[in-house]
Amino acid sequence: MTGATTTAPYASEIEDLLGRMTAEEKLGQLQQLSWTGDTGPGEGQTHEVETAARLGLLGSVLNVAGPRHTNYLQRIAVEESRLGIPLLFGLDIIHGYWTTFPIPLAQAASFDPGVSARDAEVSAREARSNGLHWTFAPMMDVTHEPRWGRIAESGGEDPYLNAVFAAAKVRAYQGDDLAAPDRLAACAKHFAAYGGAEGGRDYNTVDVSEARLRNLYLPPFKAAVDAGVATVMAAFNTISGVPAHANPHTLTDILKEEWGFDGFVVSDWTGVHELIAHGFAADGADAGRLSLNAGVDMEMVSTHLADHGPRLLTEGRISEKRLDDAVARILLLKFRLGLFDRPYVDEGAAVTGPTGEARAAARETAARCMVLLKNDGGVLPLDPATGSLAVVGPFADSTDLLGTWIAPGAAGFPAVTVLDAVREAAPTARVTHARGVAAEGHDTGGIPEAVALARDADLTVVVVGEPAAITGEAATRADLALPGAQRDLVAAVAATGRPFVVVLVNGRPLTTDEWLDSAPAVLEAWHPGIEAGHAIADVLFGAVNPGGKLPVTFPRTAGQIPVYYNHENTGRPYRPEHPDEKYVSRYLDLDEGPRFVFGHGLSYTTFDVGAPSLSTDRIEAGALRAGATVEAAVTVHNTGDRTGDEVVQLYVHDVVASQVQPVRRLRGFRRVTLAPGESTTVRFPLGAEDLGFWEGTGEPRFTVEPGDFHIYAGNSALAEEKRTLTVT
Ligand code: NOJ
Repeated sequence: MTGATTTAPYASEIEDLLGRMTAEEKLGQLQQLSWTGDTGPGEGQTHEVETAARLGLLGSVLNVAGPRHTNYLQRIAVEESRLGIPLLFGLDIIHGYWTTFPIPLAQAASFDPGVSARDAEVSAREARSNGLHWTFAPMMDVTHEPRWGRIAESGGEDPYLNAVFAAAKVRAYQGDDLAAPDRLAACAKHFAAYGGAEGGRDYNTVDVSEARLRNLYLPPFKAAVDAGVATVMAAFNTISGVPAHANPHTLTDILKEEWGFDGFVVSDWTGVHELIAHGFAADGADAGRLSLNAGVDMEMVSTHLADHGPRLLTEGRISEKRLDDAVARILLLKFRLGLFDRPYVDEGAAVTGPTGEARAAARETAARCMVLLKNDGGVLPLDPATGSLAVVGPFADSTDLLGTWIAPGAAGFPAVTVLDAVREAAPTARVTHARGVAAEGHDTGGIPEAVALARDADLTVVVVGEPAAITGEAATRADLALPGAQRDLVAAVAATGRPFVVVLVNGRPLTTDEWLDSAPAVLEAWHPGIEAGHAIADVLFGAVNPGGKLPVTFPRTAGQIPVYYNHENTGRPYRPEHPDEKYVSRYLDLDEGPRFVFGHGLSYTTFDVGAPSLSTDRIEAGALRAGATVEAAVTVHNTGDRTGDEVVQLYVHDVVASQVQPVRRLRGFRRVTLAPGESTTVRFPLGAEDLGFWEGTGEPRFTVEPGDFHIYAGNSALAEEKRTLTVT
């Protein structure tokens, strides 16, 4: 798209508007300001927003919500500004508007993109009816960093898994028609490589090769663009020395030109201004110039383009052509959303809270996201007829289960507690409760009470984890253990010798140290959202058989990070059959491998996943490039005595390549439900995209090289069953 000469839909309308806009009005379309959530129309800082809207110097507002406030502001823009261009209202609707679904990391653990689609559909319906047009989601930052709090918002460590979820969520938010009253424009964020932050410290430096950029970080964004995502948000980090907000290589060469993205790029919050702190821009004018010229189309919160744009234009430091292109992209979305025809929302039709149906979807999806890490001796599921149960821990009677990023109104709809849900699920049991310890802090004074209850109960459920406040943005942790004295609580309950199970509620992989060995069963529930307690009880009592899998590796200790399944081999890999070898790549003071591998997750039943059978064991590289595929068929059998879900996982390894390849790459997965004794065959097409890789030296090129490929099938990244495919 080239602004005034665009051939996109609405080209003539856009051209007409561009022809009538002053330079200031064009720059105004590039401006997004924040409404301060705690003030109403005409109050406090909203004056600035209202004035800009009235003068036609504002394109978008974030953090405004509700039909009354959005209509109020929209009226100013449409009825009082010179050209009457409607405003675009955006908000971070990350995993729910009223109805909070499980956090995105949990959703990825479902290995069922339908889970994210349901979140997106419910969110879009609730939010659009409240005057919102645009969500700053989905986040799709691949990361190897559990210390990074924002891992909670991502799909974990795998590019393919992130890509599948990103595409599903974009499609579900946007539907086929953005003008529909139950759809939202989506935003693929954060472009790019934000998850590579050094040390997991938020906003930190990322130095990444072109090969890793394209093979690891970009695939989810490409999938989102292919799914038609309306907008993309720039990332706070630098990419090999060039801030993502001023990076023409990623924003223009790759996103807009190579991929043909016709939406617009929004900066992150003051991301344009931060070019000065990075030491990349000399001042505000320079920051505006660098970001617009690199490909940013809309500036969130800082105002450098609006402030300095007229001078930059006069001095020729930004071009009218580029400005028109940015404006045209923004106007195009406003047309697609139908805002020129229907700028207001029907105040009488707003969804005002979670419906029963939305709650049911949140409950069902939350249970689908849970991962049974451990279940020695089949202690789970619990019998609802158990005589007595103790429910202890800082999160047993807590509503802090919604996770990071809840929408402004969602706080009015707290999570169902585990205690309440256990009482409901086991109505005849005597259920006792003690907190034991707080979520943080070192006071162990409450432990004896919890221990007394555990001694007195048939079984104890210990609910431990992370408060939402230490997950998400700007919430990096150096230590991934259970915070505070929670480990002491688990140890004290274990020391009673009575049966117990641990439920983890958290936003990132935790390290589990010795307490893990003492716990017969551990259920990873993540931050499950509004129906948290019910979903946890559904799994604990077996109404739902857990089938989630880890979307990210769980390390043994923070010192082992980064540890991820799709790593390259060194020239001296550790060999389990030679545990005493010295000159190999390993830690002297740590057992080899992670605590839990990517893709791990148990069930109350058992499965056998067979070796893949290939439709052919030889194929020409040229045929693959022309679109041919090889089918890998994998048969999975429920060998236990309960109906349950298994996630069949397919991994590939390019054995010898001109650029060292990951030891395994996930290239297919399918979650299936099987009755006892039942089996099914899952088929995965493997094409060029699955077998090839981006070469990073010279002109970047996607290539499929001749040679042998190992194709693995199984139910975790440790999949052992394999076949060899030869590409000639
Ligand atoms: C900063 C975050 O990085 C981004 O994800 C979010 O969408 C914006 N703030 C707007 O709230």
